[in-house]
Amino acid sequence: MDTIHLDLGNSGYDIHIGADLLRQVGDMIQPLNLGRSLGLITHPALEAVYGSAVVASLERAGHVVTLLTVPPGEESKSLDQAARLCQALVRARLDRGSALLGLGGGVIGDLGGFVAAILYRGIPFVNLPTTLLAQVDSSVGGKTGVNLPEGKNLVGAFHQPRLVAADVLTLRTLAEREFRSGLAEVVKHGMIADRVLFQRLEEQADRILARDPPALQEIVRRSCTIKARVVEADEREAGLRAMLNFGHTVGHAVEAALGYGVITHGEAVAQGMLVAAALSVRRGLCPEADAARLRVLLNRFGLLGAPLPSPQSLETYMVSDKKARDGVVQFVLTRGVGSVTFAPISEREELRRAVRDALGNRFQ
Ligand SMILES: NC(=O)c1ccc[n+]([C@@H]2O[C@H](COP(=O)([O-])OP(=O)(O)OC[C@H]3O[C@@H](n4cnc5c(N)ncnc54)[C@H](O)[C@@H]3O)[C@@H](O)[C@H]2O)c1
Ligand SMILES: [Zn+2]
Repeated sequence: MDTIHLDLGNSGYDIHIGADLLRQVGDMIQPLNLGRSLGLITHPALEAVYGSAVVASLERAGHVVTLLTVPPGEESKSLDQAARLCQALVRARLDRGSALLGLGGGVIGDLGGFVAAILYRGIPFVNLPTTLLAQVDSSVGGKTGVNLPEGKNLVGAFHQPRLVAADVLTLRTLAEREFRSGLAEVVKHGMIADRVLFQRLEEQADRILARDPPALQEIVRRSCTIKARVVEADEREAGLRAMLNFGHTVGHAVEAALGYGVITHGEAVAQGMLVAAALSVRRGLCPEADAARLRVLLNRFGLLGAPLPSPQSLETYMVSDKKARDGVVQFVLTRGVGSVTFAPISEREELRRAVRDALGNRFQ
């Protein structure tokens, strides 16, 4: 097992990464001195596969567990679902001294973390992420929240977990497309801050795609370390945390232009990283060879086969991005594998050319 400590002073916590951790959750939370009563939120399908190992481990450690399930899918990240869970936990007699655990992907982490943030004005949260995206991205950083019909993640709170335990064995049951989607964020972390991680992804692609536990443990560890270090430096998203948006300006535009759910988040971010790299090459910041390595790796992970919106609709969505001011889009660019930089892009033509360079052969 590897442990990364996220140093946020009083709200710092450990992130454990390893194989078969779910059976040890009871032991792992002992030092936290949580109350006896615990809530556990998950999806029915995950309860069936992993629920009993987690509950048995918690009960062995002397806890009483109330297990609640929510349907899978983004729709569960709602105020209605949060209210239902709060009521169920109060009725189950969880009190101010109780804690909540979430077992699942980003949906469970965001929803469970949000419930923990608001119930009794905040109770401890323990995150047990089971998707690659959740293990390398959403479980680290303390952002929690739910969606409104008006948009995603519009209601939420910062609430750091007390512990994160990422069991890489759970990734073996993840749907292939979900797994590959999570790999896009791992590639992103390599691209912005860790050349060794990027190299490992290149060298170990076969083992990673076969979900070999030691190979997964290494990429999750390196990836989490990067997110943890960025969050430590910039807990509330002022400046540095923006580097995590590499590939996301165009990625979000691709998702919005196609309609959410048509392609995975990772597939959209993969296209976005190619455009960011093409812009960086055009500005003389990034060697062409590094942009080529990025393309080869994303292709190896099967992230470049998804449909694309028209260049016109892509541009419309990019300029309406919430980070765009007066048509100037703030871009996270790259200086090559492992190095990041920022620049405003105001020339529509420059953006058009980069989109054509990166994705041109794939537009009809
Ligand atoms: N808080 C943050 O900082 C942050 C960052 C990025 C994304 N997010 C949020 O994360 C969410 C997406 O998370 P996600 O990609 O993990 O999706 P998800 O939580 O919806 O999980 C994807 C699917 O995989 C299933 N699943 C989960 N673990 C499994 C396993 N081990 N085996 C088999 N099936 C499994 C789930 O039931 C679900 O159907 C979005 O709501 C997004 O807004 C939050
Ligand atoms: Zn992302």
